Amino acid sequence: MDHITLSVIKADVGGFVGHSSVHDELIEEAEDRLEAAVKEDIIVDFHVTACGDDLQLIMTHRKGVDHPDIHRLAWETFEACTEVAERLKLYGAGQDLLADAFSGNVKGMGPGVAEMEFTERPSEPVLIFMADKTSAGAWNLPLYRMFADPFNTAGLVISPAMHEGFRFEVHDVKESKRVFFDTPEELYDLLVFIGAPGRYAVKAVYTKKGEIAAVSSTQRLSLIAGRYVGKDDPVCIVRSQGEFPAVGEVLEPFTMPHIVEGWMRGSHYGPLMPVPLYHATPSRFDGPPRVVSLGFQIAGGRLVGPRDMFDDPGFDEARRLCNVIADHFRRHGPFEPHRLPMEEMEYTTLPQVMEKLSGRWEAIP
Ligand code: F6R
Ligand code: MG
Ligand code: MG
Repeated sequence: MDHITLSVIKADVGGFVGHSSVHDELIEEAEDRLEAAVKEDIIVDFHVTACGDDLQLIMTHRKGVDHPDIHRLAWETFEACTEVAERLKLYGAGQDLLADAFSGNVKGMGPGVAEMEFTERPSEPVLIFMADKTSAGAWNLPLYRMFADPFNTAGLVISPAMHEGFRFEVHDVKESKRVFFDTPEELYDLLVFIGAPGRYAVKAVYTKKGEIAAVSSTQRLSLIAGRYVGKDDPVCIVRSQGEFPAVGEVLEPFTMPHIVEGWMRGSHYGPLMPVPLYHATPSRFDGPPRVVSLGFQIAGGRLVGPRDMFDDPGFDEARRLCNVIADHFRRHGPFEPHRLPMEEMEYTTLPQVMEKLSGRWEAIP
């Protein structure tokens, strides 16, 4: 009975106001649906929340990852919330539901998914990270810091439970291939790939004994749709303490606001700002990109919590630095490196403008 699956499935099904947050009525609708699913024994427990314009369904159950019952529940919940969004004329209602009908698994249909199955330890602290206005791959740097950087994670050096290091599963999101790297042995090989987060994303991290430590959503909306339909706004689950990094080691990477792609129209680089839930409402230039972290203790599948982990003055300097960096990037206006490089703009609104002007280009005499 202590074997549990933790699923985080998210979608943007309508923003309030614009793309800046989720309306309470969507949260209530999702809670009603998931409450009914608890009564029907489909899930054990749930917590509904939002980061920016993304509705987040955090669920525990006993069905394992990729289970059609769970994915159907999430899909139907998003559909029901889309109806609410349509009634309130919220912005971009149903934005991330890219398919007309559910077909067994929400992956490839728009929503982002991070799921892990494990046997509950005597005490099971987990941290769930949710980001808005950025893409899959945004977790590469923080996951590297948590699980492979001794300057971040003291336990890699001084805890016998972590000293042997971790194993990273990296996905090539364009070619649908994966590769595993052992750290610290293959650190430099790992960094060759995950330093390019637009293409290579850390999907999961394991202990050397094969125990799941972290998992992220790697769905890239633009690759699914073939055009820009909103940013991926990824999620990530990290187990903590004991053989895993301590809570503080898991959170520490976010004191360095790293630069991610996303922000306005999904077409700009900017710093990822760690915020409490009540500040997960990106409005300045539709940003800057946000990340929230909710902590839970899992007890027999029950989600005890959440604690709003970035609601801590310890992150004030990171937020201040984000604003300084954001100001500087904004001063670049439509110039790179604030605007994404040309190749990355392939899936944004730029192709239409290029198309319109294609006939006006002439050879230089
Ligand atoms: C970025 C985002 C927003 C929108 C922008 C334009 O992920 O959601 O920055 O891209 O507000 O939105 P539309 O094209 O819907 O008017
Ligand atoms: Mg939106
Ligand atoms: Mg969003």
